[in-house]
Amino acid sequence: MKIIKREILKDKPDFSNLGFGTIFTDYMFMMDYEEGKGWIDPRIEPYGPISLEPSAMVFHYGQETFEGLKAYKADNGDVRMFRVKDNLARLNRSNDRMGMPAIDVDFVFDAIKTLVDLERDWIPTKPETSLYVRPFMFAIDPFLGVRAASQYKLMVILSPVGAYYPEGMNPTKIYVEDEYIRAAVGGTGEAKTGGNYAASIKAFEKARAAGYSQVLWLDGKEKKYVEEVGTSNAFFKIDGRIVTAPLEGTILPGITRNTAIQIMREWGFEVDERRMTIDEVYAAERRGLLEEVFATGTAAVISPIGSLTYKGDTIEINRMKIGSLTKKLYETITGIQYGTIEDPFEWITIF
Ligand SMILES: Cc1ncc(COP(=O)(O)O)c(C=O)c1O
Repeated sequence: MKIIKREILKDKPDFSNLGFGTIFTDYMFMMDYEEGKGWIDPRIEPYGPISLEPSAMVFHYGQETFEGLKAYKADNGDVRMFRVKDNLARLNRSNDRMGMPAIDVDFVFDAIKTLVDLERDWIPTKPETSLYVRPFMFAIDPFLGVRAASQYKLMVILSPVGAYYPEGMNPTKIYVEDEYIRAAVGGTGEAKTGGNYAASIKAFEKARAAGYSQVLWLDGKEKKYVEEVGTSNAFFKIDGRIVTAPLEGTILPGITRNTAIQIMREWGFEVDERRMTIDEVYAAERRGLLEEVFATGTAAVISPIGSLTYKGDTIEINRMKIGSLTKKLYETITGIQYGTIEDPFEWITIF
């Protein structure tokens, strides 16, 4: 791999006050795709602005996909990465849906390892901090017609991120969105593509302005089945069983979702991946059977949900307290990620 070094490295930030996604490391990975040639010129170069034609297709028709994953530093200095190939396989499924070419998962995995290894001093070590890894791909042909592009770039940038809950984990208030939709069957909901997020912003801002931390999306056709929460998947513990939305094309197949399902099944829970109406959730609460609700995602790992508000009707879950399953899942998954708990599933790569 070609590595173009910087003359002077950046000063490292205050690692005890990082926030999310505002600081970028010294280097980035980049490679180009040209129809007929395939992927060419993989390189690591100094992080910085790139030059594109104003007519680059991504600006006009949004052919873009991305991923989000993290590298963790263990107490012994090892770098630990979690389920990287699953993220890259998902990038390829997103690419397929958006009419974009596939990447070679093993090659890009090696490139990410090389980049993160080069930047290992940027991985913060305080509890619950990590180095966020953002691979993304976009169409660059200078052309204004609507068709699949023939040239793309794949880039990977890195950002040290702080604890998601600097003041400790607190259950969130969630607004059940009944006006806007995020995705419909046959659409792009299961792809990680910028347009899905652009389409979600208005509802998110509306919920934020009303004092909620996120929206719970309902299905796009009947607006009655629960789907996902912001940028995470939603789980409901009802009378001892776990329910989460099925993978039918409208929700993102979360890596943390799959991780949580495997662990809970291992623990003996019945996990149903099935359609469930918001009315069923409310009915369970009325009968005293709605025990816990939580969201899963790379950013927060496991996030307890304390209340839901649907058409003006608010229900509290577990008296706004973190449930025992939510807490145990958070501790188990983060324990595997940071290396304080054994990894029986072989999800971790160490270097
Ligand atoms: C829409 C959406 N749903 C769910 C998730 C959770 O996925 P993961 O667990 O792979 O981070 C994300 C975050 O990536 C997301 O953007």
